[in-house]
Amino acid sequence: MASAMVRWAKENKTTGFVPTMGALHEGHISLVQASLKENDITVLSVFVNPTQFNDASDLEKYPRNLEKDLALLKNLGEIAVFAPAIQEIYPQGTELQQPADLGFLEKTMEGKHRPGHFQGVVQVVNRLLNIVPASKLYMGQKDFQQFTIIRFMLTVWNSPTQLVVCPVIREENGLAMSSRNERLSGEARKNAGEIFRVLQWIKSSIHESSLESLLLEAWKMLEAQSLSPEYLEIVDCTTLQPVKYIEEGSCAVVCIAVWVEGVRLIDNVILNGKLLPA
Ligand code: PAJ
Repeated sequence: MASAMVRWAKENKTTGFVPTMGALHEGHISLVQASLKENDITVLSVFVNPTQFNDASDLEKYPRNLEKDLALLKNLGEIAVFAPAIQEIYPQGTELQQPADLGFLEKTMEGKHRPGHFQGVVQVVNRLLNIVPASKLYMGQKDFQQFTIIRFMLTVWNSPTQLVVCPVIREENGLAMSSRNERLSGEARKNAGEIFRVLQWIKSSIHESSLESLLLEAWKMLEAQSLSPEYLEIVDCTTLQPVKYIEEGSCAVVCIAVWVEGVRLIDNVILNGKLLPA
C-alpha cells in the first residue's frame, strides 16, 4: 500500500479514502461513489479495529466476509482495497499509547455509553491516514459524533486531508443502513423504521413546543413501539453541547441510540442549519 501511495503522489494523483470495518452495505457504497467521482484514486480499507470495541463479544460477533465485500465493490470502478492485518496497524500491540484530548466531545452520547470507543477510532484513523495520506477522507453522517471528532482531530493534527461527510443512506422504511440491521428479526427491522419517523416528527415540531418536552414525548413514542432509547439528545453540530433553544443560524442535530432485540442502533437528523464545512 505504502509504495503505491508514493507512486500516486509522484504522479500528482488525488486520493479519496474510505475507511470501513467491512460488512459493506449501500451506506458504505455511497461513500465509495462520492470518492470515485471526486478523486483520481479511491482507497477503501477493511479493518475491524479492536481498539474501538469496549465489548469483547461485540468485536467477536462483528461480521467479517472480505469476499462478499469485494464482490459488492466489483463493478463500481477502480478501487484499491486495503485490508491490513492487526500487526500492520498495531505493530507495538493494541494498548493505547497516547490518549487524544477530546474533551467534552467524547464525554457525551456515544462516548458516555461506550467509554474508550472514540480513543480507538482516533487511534486507527490516525494510523490509517499515515499509510493512506489521502486528499479527501469520506465519512458518513450516520455516525455523527464520530465524524465530528475526526473533523476536530484533523485540525489538531494540522492535516491536509479534507473531510467529506456523506448523507445517511436508509432502508425503505427509513431505518439507517447498518451491518447491525442484519441481526434483527424481520418484524423488529420493520418496526425500527419508527426511529427515523420520530426524529422527523421532532424536526417538524421544533417551533411548536419546548425542545425538552419534545424529547420527552418522543421518548414515550419510541417506548410505545417496544424500542428502548439509551439516549436522545438535541446538540450543537460542532461542540455537541446540549441545546435548549434553537437559535437562528445555528446548526442543531438530534441524536439517538436505541436498543432493539439486543442490538444497538444509532441515528440522527439535522434540525436546523448546515454542517460546518470541514
Ligand atoms: P463502519 O461502521 O464500517 O463505517 C464506515 C463508514 O461508513 C463510516 O464513515 C460510517 O459513518 C459510514 N456509514 C455507515 N452506515 C452508513 C449509512 N447508512 N449511510 C451513510 N454512511 C454510512 O465507522 C466505522 O466503520 C469505523 O469506526 C471506522 C471509521 C472505519 C474506524 O474503524
